[in-house]
Amino acid sequence: MKATQKSAPKAAQAKPQLMKAPAMKINIGIDDKDRKKIADGLSRVLADTYTLYLKTHNFHWNVTGPMFQTLHLMFETQYNELALAVDLIAERIRALGHRAPATYAEFSELSSIEETMGDVSAEDMIRLLVEGQEAVVRTARSIFPAVEKASDEPTADLLTQRMQTHEKTAWMLRSMLES
Ligand SMILES: [Fe+2]
Repeated sequence: MKATQKSAPKAAQAKPQLMKAPAMKINIGIDDKDRKKIADGLSRVLADTYTLYLKTHNFHWNVTGPMFQTLHLMFETQYNELALAVDLIAERIRALGHRAPATYAEFSELSSIEETMGDVSAEDMIRLLVEGQEAVVRTARSIFPAVEKASDEPTADLLTQRMQTHEKTAWMLRSMLES
């Protein structure tokens, strides 16, 4: 500790040590209201993506039947992709100046995807994952008007990539159900 700090008056020493400096105002050309609206939308995309990630991992672990090897590996590819995606979505929320939701309680509150409990057949797993992939696309698409209105190109770019991936994965999963 520096000598000057040692001799500080008692009142100054009593100040809370962890007091945070006020946050610097964000000035990226998107007004506060629009940033909040987009961050709220992205939080729902994050919750959907995280819920789908856990569901896909669950199915990777618990799948059974003659398709085991194919599905076990396919689900692994999918949950790895989702794990990378949640990071990008959360960090876009932070770049917009908002806190990223990051608890199961918040995710279950925000997500449009229901959790799957108990045993599920391999075929139902595929069906549930198609529905989950499609649900994320709908949530992402629903926030596009706010994103476009604010000319938020980085979020539009992220959402476009997410929608492309989810629509493609939904098609691949859906194709497995066709004879
Ligand atoms: Fe594994």
